[in-house]
Amino acid sequence: MTSSVARFPNPVFVALDTPDLGHALELAAAVRPYVGGLKVGLEFITALGPTAIRRIVDIGLPVFADTKFHDIPNTVAGAAKGIAGLGVAMFNVHASGGVAMMQAARNAAKTIAPDMLVIAVTVLTSLGPDDLIAVGLGRDANVQAKRLAAQAAKAGLDGVVCSAHELSGVREAAPGLMTVVPGIRPAGAELADQRRVMTPAEARNAGADILVIGRPITAAADPAAAASAICEHLVRTMG
Ligand code: C5P
Repeated sequence: MTSSVARFPNPVFVALDTPDLGHALELAAAVRPYVGGLKVGLEFITALGPTAIRRIVDIGLPVFADTKFHDIPNTVAGAAKGIAGLGVAMFNVHASGGVAMMQAARNAAKTIAPDMLVIAVTVLTSLGPDDLIAVGLGRDANVQAKRLAAQAAKAGLDGVVCSAHELSGVREAAPGLMTVVPGIRPAGAELADQRRVMTPAEARNAGADILVIGRPITAAADPAAAASAICEHLVRTMG
């Protein structure tokens, strides 16, 4: 276990994908007793901005800002300083932005918050083989995820975001990195736009350090019950 992972004893982070702060706070209050962290992504950040991110941080669980920065190094360094000043535990960039961009993000963030975890997205979990070919990559997400994980390690980042299907390749390419895994669907749940999915227990068994779960919890009739069921099932199956 890396020291980054030791910070998160409960692996479940709930994605608060909403442009409505009241709704996000309600969801966060409902799931707080059961989960290990909260994630705010582009829908939340662009609608509500830094003050709202601070409100989520104030809840007291670790917060992952899913910023997915991808720009030239100087611009990403500036954005990294902005997000690092908000009290979040980690944020991310796209690994395909290159090593110099990842290093710029990391260095800038750590000048503001030395403990900040900076992680890199490898291949979006919504992309299937045909989508990968259409954007100029080979149809095998595993090859690309491994390549980008190695680049993230070279840049000195703390972890990567990948689908559960690429975990073994990513671990081989970048053994010390924390793995953050979206595309999690309990058995029988709707896939919606996700393509490369696994159940929470399968993903943990495959070596995921953090599970990012959105709609299976937030779109449930009772989000607290859904979060509790997922986390209890994980504890039962993982020991
Ligand atoms: O609702 P669902 O469980 O599909 O939510 C997954 C979350 O993880 C979303 O907030 C999405 O933005 C995020 N994510 C992803 N794939 C990545 C990186 C982040 O689905 N590669």
